[in-house]
Amino acid sequence: MKHLMRNRANPHIRELLAQSGLSVSKLIQPIFVVEGLSGKEEIPGLIGNHRLGISEALSQIEKDLNNGVRHFMLFCVPANKGITPDPGAGMVARIKQHFGKDIHLWVDTCLCSSSPHGHCCLFHDKEGEIDLGATLNALSSYAKSYAEAGADGVAPSDMIDGRVAAIRAQLDKSGFRNIPIMSYSTKFASAFYGPFRAAADSSPGFGDRRQYQIDVRNRSDALNASVRCANEGADLLMLKPGMTSIDLLKPISQKTNIPIGVYQVSGEYASLALLAREGLTDFNRALLETWHVFQRAGAQYIVTYGARKGRDLGIALT
Ligand code: PBG
Repeated sequence: MKHLMRNRANPHIRELLAQSGLSVSKLIQPIFVVEGLSGKEEIPGLIGNHRLGISEALSQIEKDLNNGVRHFMLFCVPANKGITPDPGAGMVARIKQHFGKDIHLWVDTCLCSSSPHGHCCLFHDKEGEIDLGATLNALSSYAKSYAEAGADGVAPSDMIDGRVAAIRAQLDKSGFRNIPIMSYSTKFASAFYGPFRAAADSSPGFGDRRQYQIDVRNRSDALNASVRCANEGADLLMLKPGMTSIDLLKPISQKTNIPIGVYQVSGEYASLALLAREGLTDFNRALLETWHVFQRAGAQYIVTYGARKGRDLGIALT
């Protein structure tokens, strides 16, 4: 009989042989900043996360820095709906002016929080065909404005065809050759985005996102989407949701040779929190377990609403 349990017999040998190099420096903390909000508002299900006014956001980031978090994904929630060239750029500037190089700030680049209908694109006519030209122009303009405001990277999350190429071209011609693009490259039409849409005020006003997000049944489409983003010049790729896309990490990584991470989306995170609230799991242990699984599967980075808890959960800072 093989004696596999010998290597698990006590904490010392378990630590010696543990294969995970998980650290807080691999985690990215999302942060929702709401224009014009004073104070902060609860986000149902997203324990430890709030919709923040700008001054609350600055103090939250300060605390997160003290907990070893360096990477943030900013979601700018504008006060008014409507496509302007630079919604949210002011918040990016405030944050970067305050923290400079102490933080690494990615800005989620999408139209869904500012478009009047909550979709990640613009349409030729209401409920009609996607207006690709107008959508790509708006996305490129957002990306440029974030770069001008000091963002360290932009993260297009819309799943509209051609956006990585369009954003790359815009950044390059505006003098931002060094700004990386983290593409939400394989993003499924998922039922796990609920708490986020309340936080970002981005629920589609009609229909759903199946016209542009990937059908969960389609493996080849899922692979092609990331390969396409890689070909268009994405610097980092991302799978989303994390747990339900885990089978695709290795194949995409092998096909593209580009760093790929996962987004543990709002519904995944909230499901652990709600289980814990019912006394059915220990939230911290469950959260940590999911992060280890992401790493084991090959994720280079993890976007998670729990990044700021990482140090308290006992993981190393680097
Ligand atoms: C916006 C965007 C979404 C998420 C990240 N960026 C929502 C969506 O596509 O509907 C989801 C994140 C989460 O659920 O935590 N395009």
